[in-house]
Amino acid sequence: MAARLFAFPDGSPPVSQPHRRTVVVLAAGEGKRMKSALPKVLHPLLGRTLLGHVLAAAGPLRADRTVVVVGHGAEQVRAHLAEVAPDATAVLQAEQLGTGHAVRIALEAVPEAGGTVVVINGDVPLLRAETVDALVTAHEGEGAAATVLAAEVPDPTGLGRIVRDAAGRLEQIVEERDATPAQRALREINAGIYAFDLARLRAALGKLSTDNDQGEEYLTDVFGLFVSAGEPVGVHVAADHVETLGCNDRVELAGLRRLLRDRVNEAWMRTGVTILDPATTWIDVTATVGRDAVLDQNTQLRGSTVVGAEAVVGPDVTLIDTVVGPAATVLRSHATGAEVGPGASVGPYAYLRPAARLAEKAKVGTFVEVKNSEVGPGAKVPHLSYVGDATIGAKANIGAATIFVNYDGVNKHRTVVGDGAFVGCDTNLIAPVEVGAGAYVAAGSALSQDVPPGALGVTRAPQRNIEGWVLRNRPGTVSARAAEQARTAGEDASGGPVSASEGEAIHGGAETV
Ligand code: UD1
Ligand code: CA
Repeated sequence: MAARLFAFPDGSPPVSQPHRRTVVVLAAGEGKRMKSALPKVLHPLLGRTLLGHVLAAAGPLRADRTVVVVGHGAEQVRAHLAEVAPDATAVLQAEQLGTGHAVRIALEAVPEAGGTVVVINGDVPLLRAETVDALVTAHEGEGAAATVLAAEVPDPTGLGRIVRDAAGRLEQIVEERDATPAQRALREINAGIYAFDLARLRAALGKLSTDNDQGEEYLTDVFGLFVSAGEPVGVHVAADHVETLGCNDRVELAGLRRLLRDRVNEAWMRTGVTILDPATTWIDVTATVGRDAVLDQNTQLRGSTVVGAEAVVGPDVTLIDTVVGPAATVLRSHATGAEVGPGASVGPYAYLRPAARLAEKAKVGTFVEVKNSEVGPGAKVPHLSYVGDATIGAKANIGAATIFVNYDGVNKHRTVVGDGAFVGCDTNLIAPVEVGAGAYVAAGSALSQDVPPGALGVTRAPQRNIEGWVLRNRPGTVSARAAEQARTAGEDASGGPVSASEGEAIHGGAETV
């Protein structure tokens, strides 16, 4: 953070006296070319809105005050600000009469007389905090009246040009539509990000004319006014012009998204994350990934997602606000608001919903949905199950196609499965119900009463076999022919019909690995 140093006459060490700083974000425009009901600055881009990115880039300035000029979609923008930047002041610019007009209105909400004002267009989401900081540091260091962030771009179409004199000093900023052909040929553009001396800016804004092609008050005209008045102005050239890219339509938004994706992926790879296919890995700027984690292709990490060290995620995984513990694996799955414990395994094809919490080394396998439930340490739900509002104990085994029947049409109820319990396949656990520690549930049961620890719960009707039914009722079918063949073979071998087994198999837990 830039600071002015004062040395006291008594020789005591200098103390740093920070400048007062105000940030003004211009976000009143409609963004017509977005063709959207959503104001342009509220379009999302890898974890933040465009406006959210700009505010984040300004964050390290530690401004005393942040003013956001709102206009189109003002109520939506205000609501968003209340969420992401509750300390910011929204100022309404009812009519968009130009960037100069917008800043003039913004400063009416700023009581301070002096200090630095940083103005940022609301639609430059790739802007880095370091760049804003460098601009402001240069500006304050030189005591300039105004400093503009400029960039040399391959295609300056539509942007304001930086016009310099023979000595290379800024002369003025000219909008493309007001520019001469020679000025239009310039490729050094105004990024729409500036630092100003507050007192001098206030004075200059009062002198803006609307004598231009759009009949608007141009903030950029302030530079020409300062130059004419002999006030010092500066140009700070961005090291990477990509940071200054604005967003006017959805094609440009998609382009910015790819650029930000690459930036984010590169940063994680440099901290020790393996990203197998960076082109299909989309990590929100708000997500984090631990060292030696492996992200396979088609992986999206969104919101507050945290992937632990050495975890393996992907291919084909979307994680939203989900925590994945160290060395866990998540394969071809979707999770939102879930927790996957250390060494746990998820998928392929699992769906973890809010408050699904998998403890260490738990397994949630194929075509399994889990919601608002704890799956205990080492417990397994390997196949084709719905687990809702349940607590599953350590090392319990939930057989294939088990349904935790949590909803009675009006209320949701909980199911508890104790440690080491074994629930056979195709079981309905009709909540509220409890399966005790070490208890078994016979495959195909529909339980509505508790099973005590160590007991076997079984609710199936006894099996009965009706001999000869197929030959009598389905003559001429494939089954009838097979039955006939089996009967003849049985008679040949034993001289009598094959007898059905009397025993009732009650097991039926799925094979699990
Ligand atoms: C502006 C600059 C141009 C620069 C470009 C960078 C001016 C006159 N020109 O042009 O030199 O190269 O940005 O992108 O400033 N806004 C308001 N109220 C208004 C007008 C605009 O809040 O009355 C906001 C918009 O929502 C937007 C920003 O200001 O966030 C810039 O406005 P825009 O119309 O995009 O300015 P440009 O013509 O692109
Ligand atoms: Ca623009």
